[in-house]
Amino acid sequence: MNATINLEKKHFPVLLNELISIISPLYGGTFIDCTFGQGGYSEKILENKKNHIIALDRDKDVQNSASKLQKKYDKRFKFYNLKFSQLDKIKLKNHKIKGIIFDLGYSFNQIKNSKKGLSFSDKGKLNMRMGINDFSANEIISNMDENNLAKVFKVFGDEKYSKKIAKKIVEKRKDKIINTEDLVQIIDNVKKYQKTKIHNSTKVFQALRILVNKEISELINGLINSYNLIPRGGIIAVVSFHSIEDRIVKFFFKHYSEQRNSSRYLPEAEISERCFKLINKKPILPSLSEIKHNPPSRSAKLRYGIKTNDKCDFNEFREKFKNLINIENLR
Ligand SMILES: C[S@@+](CC[C@H](N)C(=O)[O-])C[C@H]1O[C@@H](n2cnc3c(N)ncnc32)[C@H](O)[C@@H]1O
Repeated sequence: MNATINLEKKHFPVLLNELISIISPLYGGTFIDCTFGQGGYSEKILENKKNHIIALDRDKDVQNSASKLQKKYDKRFKFYNLKFSQLDKIKLKNHKIKGIIFDLGYSFNQIKNSKKGLSFSDKGKLNMRMGINDFSANEIISNMDENNLAKVFKVFGDEKYSKKIAKKIVEKRKDKIINTEDLVQIIDNVKKYQKTKIHNSTKVFQALRILVNKEISELINGLINSYNLIPRGGIIAVVSFHSIEDRIVKFFFKHYSEQRNSSRYLPEAEISERCFKLINKKPILPSLSEIKHNPPSRSAKLRYGIKTNDKCDFNEFREKFKNLINIENLR
């Protein structure tokens, strides 16, 4: 879940002070903001005159916010409407990259834009595309077979009633195209006797959003691209919001910061160097006052690593999450 939704109904960058205190020792170079949004992180980094920002966002609707920063900071700011899996496409010229940052999920502006259909309170055709997508939630709900729908709801949403919901969807779509209200109604009908703290539709909507935006392969490829792009000594920092994202980010930093082949029988020279140095083994969490001010920030976790060598091979990383990628490719 994303943490830029708040009581004051405006955008707040999450864990901003914590992120800045991590990256500020490296100030005096270029930082890549992979999830520009409303530019909260970018603007804070640009306040220091020695810094440059290269920003990316898959949603072209952020262009207004990008244009404002462009006007204010001129050559120190450059925006690309790209996905972070396409990081390798950006031109770096003479930029000395000091840090690459990710603030995953969607923004308050996106959820309040009913055309995007990210919220179960929206009306009309199912969508959920954040930008640069191959298909929408409507195509999934209209065409995906029952078993695969159930698998998506179970794995990406941890939805206990995945099979029943999938069955009802397949029955209903014989009569009509299922829109957002229909989907919410189907889920409510299946769960009618359940009392839970979260909205009945939260899990199914999260699962569909992950699938439509291919969030798992985006994250895996984005992290690997970041490693390939950043020189030694640079920082990769990621704020995640749900448990699948955090599992991926945690494995990426933890697994590749441990010394491998460390059998005591191997000569010293064959012990592979670590890819990252971790300063904090545990994630950094929002303070109580941030959670009070902006309740959805409670699920945010910030992890980061400092690159220590150039020879990392990420086959194990891809292998570890192959099952999730296979589900993303079910369609
Ligand atoms: C939580 S918001 C970022 C908020 C931002 N840190 C700020 O301070 O305004 C996440 C943004 O990331 C973008 N995004 C999500 N997945 C992306 C991807 N794979 N590639 C590029 N942008 C992505 C979304 O479109 C959204 O604008």
